[in-house]
Amino acid sequence: MPLSEALWSILTEAETTPITELFAQDPERVSRLASEVAGIRFDFSKTHLGRSVLDSAARLFAEGGLAEAQDQLFTGQIINRTEGRAAEHAAERGSGAPEAVHLAAERRHRMRSLIDAVEAGAFGDVTGILHIGIGGSALGPALLVDALGRREQRYNVGVLSNIDGQAFDAAVQDLDPGTTLVVLASKTFTTAETLRNAQAALAWLQEGGVEDPYGKLIAVTASPGNALEFGIDETRILPFSESVGGRYSLWSAIGFPAALALGFAAFEELLEGAAEMDRHFRHAEPAANVPFLAALSDLFYSQRLGCETRAVFAYDERLRLLPDYLQQLIMESNGKSVTVDGQPLGRPSSAIVWGGVGTDAQHAVFQLLHQGTRLVPVEFVAVAEGDDDQDPAHHRELLLNAFAQGAALMSGRASEDPARHYPGDRPSMTLLLEQLDPRTLGALLAFYEHRTFAEAVLLGINPFDQFGVELGKSIAHAIDDPDQLAGFDPSTRALVEKAGL
Ligand code: F6P
Repeated sequence: MPLSEALWSILTEAETTPITELFAQDPERVSRLASEVAGIRFDFSKTHLGRSVLDSAARLFAEGGLAEAQDQLFTGQIINRTEGRAAEHAAERGSGAPEAVHLAAERRHRMRSLIDAVEAGAFGDVTGILHIGIGGSALGPALLVDALGRREQRYNVGVLSNIDGQAFDAAVQDLDPGTTLVVLASKTFTTAETLRNAQAALAWLQEGGVEDPYGKLIAVTASPGNALEFGIDETRILPFSESVGGRYSLWSAIGFPAALALGFAAFEELLEGAAEMDRHFRHAEPAANVPFLAALSDLFYSQRLGCETRAVFAYDERLRLLPDYLQQLIMESNGKSVTVDGQPLGRPSSAIVWGGVGTDAQHAVFQLLHQGTRLVPVEFVAVAEGDDDQDPAHHRELLLNAFAQGAALMSGRASEDPARHYPGDRPSMTLLLEQLDPRTLGALLAFYEHRTFAEAVLLGINPFDQFGVELGKSIAHAIDDPDQLAGFDPSTRALVEKAGL
């Protein structure tokens, strides 16, 4: 029986014992379902995962399916079958086919040389970086710089993704064209938004008095030929591998603005943290393997209890971009309705991921989480050590709030007044980082990558393609042509006409 079928049987037959009862039945539940890996405490004990599901799923894991897929991932085999490619993001941090690991190291060296050149003044006085890219070519760098660059950032970094001119205006607001380097990050170097914004950046540099605007451009791409054609000198092109997917690419040269702004040593620490999680995912036994357990929980809620969504709340302002980053990672990877073999999936794929920042979210969306009719598994991501200049009471209360929400969701509180009754038995998991540094963030992001991969393997789908985004792109071109527009539906035609396009 295929792995996904076997897991489906386990999950659909699983008991749904209330979480508080699971605690009562098993005094060891916390030590069984909470563990420390790479500076992060992963606590899955406030979920409905019971002993029998855990044991059956662990047996399944041990019998081969997932382990085989892990081997394929870490040895550079063609696991992205629809595109005929390997998925070699882990090679960027040292785990993979030897030639891929070697090539990644060589390219990282090239990135380092360019950083050294910037620092040595080869580009004149540089005070700012305008990073232009979209999706995986922007979300990772934006998260890294926002999370880790609050204390000291050697350059002022603006990240621009949207084609909306408002976004351009906002991104360059604090940048001086005379002292800004423009990074064009695009795996394909064909993405409409990025190329439009690149042209706008060239005009911005020129209008700002820069004599050689092209000399201020740096390209990061897996298609160096397209960057050359765009007019970027070969010495300022940082290549990365075709087998590194966009949403898995922040470890490659796509991380260049972060490596420049935070320092190369910090970037290397980030990779080392991710490598530690790679080793854990590859070698830890199922019952203690955190990406596997999290994926199992995700599938339990989507397949057994029909949860359409799950929510992630960062209880740390420095991680405010994490939910955005995860939305692309998870939904672009696992939002599919066919299997690897092109058959209908026949069961729910990945849940919709949404979220926000605590404690703000408590005063906005938590009402529904506590008392709404829908069951939403919640994930809290918090950092034990604060790093702000305020009274430590702020950070203390922030953490107390995160933990209180998990406890409240699970325990509930009975009341004779229906409006004041909290049903409880609402699941959550908590990820508590010791501190937020490059190493721990690297481990956290690699955890999410492997959890997404494990979920895909357990579903039997390919997490590494994204054909679902192509149709809209081609229609955006087509409706710009009056002849083709005539063949579209009346609503679309009327909208184009009303907007005066
Ligand atoms: O449209 C989706 C997508 O292809 C993402 O997968 C990717 O991260 C993003 O666009 C940007 O693509 P590129 O890096 O090729 O510009």
